[in-house]
Amino acid sequence: MANPILQIKNASITFGDFKAVKNVSTTVYDNEIRFLIGPNGAGKTTLLDAICGKNKLSSGNIVYYNDGQEYNLPKIKENKIVNIGVGRKFQAPSVFSGITIYENMELAAVTNRGLMASIGNKLPAEIRERIDEQLQFIGLYELRNEYPTVLSHGQKQWLEIGMLCVSKPRLMLLDEPVAGMGRRETQRTAELLKIIQKECAVIVVEHDMQFVREVASWVTVLHDGEILCEGTMDEVQNNQQVIDVYLGRGGE
Ligand SMILES: Nc1ncnc2c1ncn2[C@@H]1O[C@H](COP(=O)(O)OP(=O)(O)OP(=O)(O)O)[C@@H](O)[C@H]1O
Ligand SMILES: [Mg+2]
Repeated sequence: MANPILQIKNASITFGDFKAVKNVSTTVYDNEIRFLIGPNGAGKTTLLDAICGKNKLSSGNIVYYNDGQEYNLPKIKENKIVNIGVGRKFQAPSVFSGITIYENMELAAVTNRGLMASIGNKLPAEIRERIDEQLQFIGLYELRNEYPTVLSHGQKQWLEIGMLCVSKPRLMLLDEPVAGMGRRETQRTAELLKIIQKECAVIVVEHDMQFVREVASWVTVLHDGEILCEGTMDEVQNNQQVIDVYLGRGGE
């Protein structure tokens, strides 16, 4: 088996008296594409927020492994978590429409690397090469000097994925990356993820079951803040409890 990159250990998250995540434990391995699925309000986004440092755990731990080091993520500030290789794409798009596509990539490169001081100066050649390479990868190189307003919804999502990739994360967290995409754009996103997987582990929250089936290595089903079941897509979609609370209720 591959090496673990993330271990979530008995993690709980509460908001006031409300338990949004209850005693969740799971291990994500290097180069895995892990899906988190489940009904609205199951706690999927809340859990991603805890991994990237936006939410606090009320109990438990989240351990991240990178370069032979072990990090207790709940003890690390959000901006530092990015610097140790955990990249996060939020449910709402967050590209800046007032600067060009290329400038969005530059901004991602400097903020993610703590190179804020180099804004206004020329970026190192190595980073500019990385940006060009990523723009080619997401199919936006020709459009690099345009503003993001020219992009389709899908292209904007890809730009965000490219902005994450530019800093070479070891673990990428994506919240509903194909929501609102048509079939062809979804298909293209699946292809991108399968390439990204070669260099990094990915945790994806998604409701699009065709997409999940296409790219998932392993699926974790959350319901009411708890893990209902975990396994391959085949196992999960034949689980009667999963069918009852999610898939059989129009989860697709
Ligand atoms: N900051 C908060 N304060 C209070 N309650 C919250 C907060 N954030 C989330 N919740 C609640 O926690 C529960 C889990 O929400 P979460 O956003 O994680 O669900 P989700 O699984 O991502 O759902 P969806 O598929 O709709 O995005 C919901 O009941 C939500 O209302
Ligand atoms: Mg959510």
